[in-house]
Amino acid sequence: MRYSLSVFLIAIIPALTNQLLDDPSCSVVPVTVEGGVSGNRSCTHFPSPIPVGGVMERVPASAEDPLAPADPEKARFLAEFPGYNAAIEPLAARELSRLGGEHYLDYTGSGVYQTSQLMEVYSDLSQNAFGNAHSKNPSASRTDERTEEARRLVLEFFSAPEEEYEVVFTSGATQALKMVGEYFPWQADSSFLYLRSNHNSVLGIREYAAEKGASFHAVTEEEVEASIKEAEMEASTERGGGDGQQMPVDQTPKRELKEKKMPGSDDGFAPIPCLFAFPAKDNFSGRYYNLDWLRRLRETGGFGGTLHDGAAPACRRIWTLVDAAAFAPSKRLDLSRYPADFVAISFYKMFGYPTGLGALILRRDTDALLRKTYWGGGAVVSACCDVRWCKPKEVGDPHRLEDGTVNFLSISALRAGLSKLEEVGMDNIEAHIASLSRCLASRLQSLTHKNTNSPVVEVYGGEGLPDGLPEGGVVTFNVLTPDSHPVPFDEVADLAGSRGFHIRGGCFCNPGGCQDALDLTSEDIQRAAEGRTSCGGAVKAKSSLEAQWASKFGGSGGAGEGRTGPKRYGAVRASFGYLSTFEDAAAFARFIEEEYAR
Ligand SMILES: Cc1ncc(COP(=O)(O)O)c(C=O)c1O
Repeated sequence: MRYSLSVFLIAIIPALTNQLLDDPSCSVVPVTVEGGVSGNRSCTHFPSPIPVGGVMERVPASAEDPLAPADPEKARFLAEFPGYNAAIEPLAARELSRLGGEHYLDYTGSGVYQTSQLMEVYSDLSQNAFGNAHSKNPSASRTDERTEEARRLVLEFFSAPEEEYEVVFTSGATQALKMVGEYFPWQADSSFLYLRSNHNSVLGIREYAAEKGASFHAVTEEEVEASIKEAEMEASTERGGGDGQQMPVDQTPKRELKEKKMPGSDDGFAPIPCLFAFPAKDNFSGRYYNLDWLRRLRETGGFGGTLHDGAAPACRRIWTLVDAAAFAPSKRLDLSRYPADFVAISFYKMFGYPTGLGALILRRDTDALLRKTYWGGGAVVSACCDVRWCKPKEVGDPHRLEDGTVNFLSISALRAGLSKLEEVGMDNIEAHIASLSRCLASRLQSLTHKNTNSPVVEVYGGEGLPDGLPEGGVVTFNVLTPDSHPVPFDEVADLAGSRGFHIRGGCFCNPGGCQDALDLTSEDIQRAAEGRTSCGGAVKAKSSLEAQWASKFGGSGGAGEGRTGPKRYGAVRASFGYLSTFEDAAAFARFIEEEYAR
């Protein structure tokens, strides 16, 4: 073990050092190292179009520009999509040279790191000593300072006031979501409501709810809207038609079923804990959901009316859980405007490195709600070995929710990653990726088969959006044959991979998004799982499954009839991020046209 580690270090250190020395952008300048040590070579300032300490100046797209590209296709794109940030092109060429000209189109799967970002981390770790923050020594103190600095930087990034929010480090978005599910004070009369289109990592929370006898409800976007409106109307009636009068405490509120009479509480009723979870951005379609729900739910206190399943989970106080794993890399999440109770993120999705690190950002006033059973490591101040006694960290201290030693070296790498996004600017990123997904979707939608004139591609997720084009940087689609049968998504993904396009096929661990876009029933999903080994995998053993479906549904295509021809059991997803370029989108559209338009 020691031998292989030293072989690794012997191999990696000269390689990294050479990279530093060979890189013409490295300057021989004194490096200020924490604790007073100083080095003499820095690669932290690569030549960049980004002014130091500021936001990159977006290069607006303009066809009239004297420097407009000779390529007429690109000139048209620039004229049509002014949100595209051309300043990204030299940055991406320099920072993603490791892709060797291939096209990375799986930003919803994982973001990518800039080479200079790694160099900054390398430079930091190689020149500063970090120890376990549970110790008391200089390297431990440095870890402690960096960890607290990282918490502040994360709060700043999400405009979360420090007095209102805290950051708990986790291994990723999934662990953050799981923690909320596990620690939420479910009761038999609680409800867990979640948007149908959600990642599996959110759906799994229902096991904790069900274990305590709580009900769970998968709701549509329309139902959420209608329920919030209903609750707003009820609240206004309770206030006496909006004249600001308080309802007397002894008057039974409409939603009494979900409230317990509690003499000690403000108005005589204690809220039954209910939770509503939704993704800020849908990882199936790239759709952005209405963040204003967060404010309205906080003001009204909950859902009103009756759901499609007949339930009336009229919780008087509903806590909100936002899965921002797919959203955070593409759009600004301003928690000072949208007061989510819990937010889950994964950092590698935002800026590629480090992996294995995420956060649960939670409102300080919800921390006390969480019921934690296990305690370990830094989550506890003191414990006895032979008596069931311990003194846990206090509510409001994020360490209370962080069992064991946090991933402190990765945490210290966050400032490099966060600054990469901030240098480009989240508003620029939002406009940039919207331009690319809208452009790719419109290109794909315009393709027709020569003989039948039928569409080559069916794109999902543009419903209700301007021009029906997806604006969230995600283009999810299926390729169709001239007789409108779906080409298996895994075949398309495999061929694309062999041609240097890094895309994804399947349902992307979002069964609800997949079901609704592809018209699949729960039964379809369950049957398809018989031939699947992962949520991204192809449906194997097609012949026996198809035979079963054919007899069940009487479908001529063998696999059951969907809206148009045989059902699709997954889709292909191309997703853009802040380092994507026009050439990535154009090359992929050309690939689909050349391979599939007949
Ligand atoms: C919307 C969404 N939520 C949650 C997750 C889970 O993230 P992780 O695997 O990083 O925990 C993903 C991952 O793809 C996602 O897209």
